[in-house]
Amino acid sequence: MTRFAIVGLGYWGPNLVRNLHELPDAELVTVCDLRPEALESIQRRYPAVGTTQDFQDVVGDDSIDAVVISTPVSTHHRLAAAALSAGKHVFVEKPLAASSAEALDLVEIADRNNVVLMPGHTFLYSPPVMLIRDLIRSGELGEIYFISTSRVNLGLHQPDVSVAWDLGPHDFSILRYWLGETPCHASALARGCVIPNTPDVAFINLEFPSGTVAHVELSWLAPSKLRRTTVVGSQKMVVYDDTSSEPVRIFDSGAVLPNPETFGEYKLTYRTGDIVSPRVDAAEPLFRELEDFQNAIKTGSTPRSSAHLGVEVVRMIEAVDSSLDSAGSRVSIGASAPHAAAA
Ligand SMILES: NC(=O)c1ccc[n+]([C@@H]2O[C@H](COP(=O)([O-])OP(=O)(O)OC[C@H]3O[C@@H](n4cnc5c(N)ncnc54)[C@H](O)[C@@H]3O)[C@@H](O)[C@H]2O)c1
Repeated sequence: MTRFAIVGLGYWGPNLVRNLHELPDAELVTVCDLRPEALESIQRRYPAVGTTQDFQDVVGDDSIDAVVISTPVSTHHRLAAAALSAGKHVFVEKPLAASSAEALDLVEIADRNNVVLMPGHTFLYSPPVMLIRDLIRSGELGEIYFISTSRVNLGLHQPDVSVAWDLGPHDFSILRYWLGETPCHASALARGCVIPNTPDVAFINLEFPSGTVAHVELSWLAPSKLRRTTVVGSQKMVVYDDTSSEPVRIFDSGAVLPNPETFGEYKLTYRTGDIVSPRVDAAEPLFRELEDFQNAIKTGSTPRSSAHLGVEVVRMIEAVDSSLDSAGSRVSIGASAPHAAAA
């Protein structure tokens, strides 16, 4: 039996409570939030769960093995560092921390205390995302030329971070997981339309060492919800639409230059073949993610959403910020941080 506490019961925290409650061999001992009304609402549904407004009660409770943190990004480092230092395994909602220095510090504290640190990159447990990773890694799509993605809808504006810090971790973690590499360059254009100096729309370009390029569009200001990614490979193309009942469609389409030497008079051959929509599991990603956290605690395995991947995602967002700080210039992202090489 793993004994858990959950800290932060705002928009996202109750989803963690519900999934953790259903996890076998897991007991939700305590929930913690600064707001009494958030605690009351959880206690009405789960009367056996303890509540506290004081995070120190969680850290000081020796019966708690693991702490799940779902508070605003600016608090992640302080809360996670305290829980790790108290010998707790820690799951922190994305992004792992508000800077790569903070994220690396958390990795170091976790290593020192021999406990699991896992960032909550939920999409790595989404069946369509896993299926597309298999397609990419098996070579079925051929060389990945480019990936283009839109993650837009109306709200929710975050008080303490830009849209790049809020929505960016989803696409950045997916790209990192699919391609197995961190981009070497980033450039970005953004605008704070509603709250001055807090970008609520961002257009981000990423270049990967393998040659793949990606465009990521993020926004809290859009008339309708779009979660659409196109992967274009030399052999096949994939459209992933997370809002569709057919989330993955594989197109046997492409273009070839039969005889590149006669460039002046070339004729391209276009191929438009079958479109396949594979069956995709209906598993809830958040449940699978918490299961992976528990498994890492029990067996010492590295979770798919590893701390190292979490550090790399933060480095990608930092690169976006530094491009925005220099009028959208193309900034280089250094080699992986020492801890991140295996991610
Ligand atoms: N994985 C996902 O798909 C997903 C989706 C949404 C949000 N998130 C992440 O979840 C986290 C929380 O986001 P949210 O939208 O729920 O935020 P929110 O502002 O709605 O909720 C945060 C909660 O934390 C509480 N809190 C703040 N400081 C605290 C402290 N020191 N001790 C105890 N409680 C404290 C607040 O009272 C509030 O109830 C963020 O990291 C966000 O990026 C992840």
